[in-house]
Parts: sequence; C-alpha cells; structure tokens
Amino acid sequence: MDLVEEIRRYVKKECGKETNFFGMSAYNYHFVSMVKYAKQLAKETNADVEIVEIAAWLHDIGSILGDYKNHHISGAEHAGKLLAEYNYPKDRIEQIKHCILAHRGSKDIKRETIEAECIADADAMSHFDGIADLFNLALVVRKLEINEAKKFVKEKLQRSWKKLTPRAKGVIKPKYEAAMLVLE
Ligand SMILES: [Fe+2]
Repeated sequence: MDLVEEIRRYVKKECGKETNFFGMSAYNYHFVSMVKYAKQLAKETNADVEIVEIAAWLHDIGSILGDYKNHHISGAEHAGKLLAEYNYPKDRIEQIKHCILAHRGSKDIKRETIEAECIADADAMSHFDGIADLFNLALVVRKLEINEAKKFVKEKLQRSWKKLTPRAKGVIKPKYEAAMLVLE
C-alpha cells in the first residue's frame, strides 16, 4: 500500500464534502502546489521526504474538517489518529504532528525540525502562486467587499512572507515585491 497516495485520496475526499467550507479550490489551488513546493524543499534540504509529503497533504485538514481557528492543533491531533490507524511508526507520527502544529505564520510556534521548516515554507510559498485563489477565498468564500478582500489578501501574503526562511525568501522575493506593489 502506498500510504502517501492513500492520504492524498483521503484529503481529496474530505475536500469534496459539502461540509468543507473552503470547497474543492483548497485542494486544487492550495494543497497541490503546496505539496509540490514541500517535496522540492525536502529534497533540497535532505529532509525526510515521506514525512514532509504526508504532513503537506494533512497540514490544513483541521480547517477542512471545520476548525479554521485552531486548525494547527486539531489538524495535528486528527493526523495522529489517522496515521495510527495505518500502524504508522509512532516517532514518525510525532514528527508529522509537529510539522502541522508549527505550520502557521500567525502562531508563534517554533519549528524544531527541518521537516517543519519545509512545511511552513511550502505553505507560504504556495500562496504566492495562488493569488487568484486567495481572492476567491476572500470574495467568494468569505464574501468580503472588494477593498476588504484586497486587505485580506495583502495581509495574508505579508504573514506568509514573514514566516519564510531566508532560503525561501530568496525564491519568492520577486513575487512578493510585485504583489505588494499591486495591492498597495
Ligand atoms: Fe496551507
């Protein structure tokens, strides 16, 4: 059994449910590019690719299941239970839970491992590829007024920028600067 593939399918299925406030766009425009960046960073930094990939698919599962506010905490817990059902090794489950717990830029949780850094970086990097998706989130999903949506997107990107490691900042800088110029 390919566990990573199994987890991807699980996340896709959960994204497709009507109870998912964010809709399929979370899967199509955020998770897919986030996982791509996460794998790329894992290879570049010699991190554990499987841990990074599983954590990447599951990092926002808390939001998808309805708890946006504390999705780093509930998501880590949920991932732990899910992976235990597959008899995944306990120490690796703990590493994945840490990646999920520490991925949010708005929460001050120290990233203790290179895998957790890959996840936080990839999450933020994917926002710069998905500015249209962020506007969809602001205008369509959250039904914000245009100026509020602009502010929402700008602040989201500023938070994303702030949480990047210097390595990731180097990659994203042109897109960050362009976005700030346009969203002024
Ligand atoms: Fe995310």
